Amino acid sequence: MESYAHHVLVCTGSYCSPERAGRRLYALLPTLLQREGLLFGPRRVKRGETPCLGVCAGGPIVVVYPEGVWYAGVTPELLERIVVEHLRDGRVVQEAVFHHLPPSPSD
Ligand code: FES
Repeated sequence: MESYAHHVLVCTGSYCSPERAGRRLYALLPTLLQREGLLFGPRRVKRGETPCLGVCAGGPIVVVYPEGVWYAGVTPELLERIVVEHLRDGRVVQEAVFHHLPPSPSD
């Protein structure tokens, strides 16, 4: 498998977002990634949807690895910021972060 720089998981479940807004986010994600040149090459972003991330409130929830950054209340506008600022430019959208995994011991 071709390597990638980031992995984005979008919760498309109905507990954190009763209207399942995560589904619309997940459908929007490839368009944003393509626009920013993040579908192929060394900055490639792998994406995936999941029925639950175990949070189940304040969604939609979006998680970005390898940083281990968890975003809550993600709207289409916020997803665009995550793609541009975090995935493209390497700056976490701090005001939308509700959880951040600690760095691994090897970091
Ligand atoms: S349903 Fe989205 S975190 Fe559980």
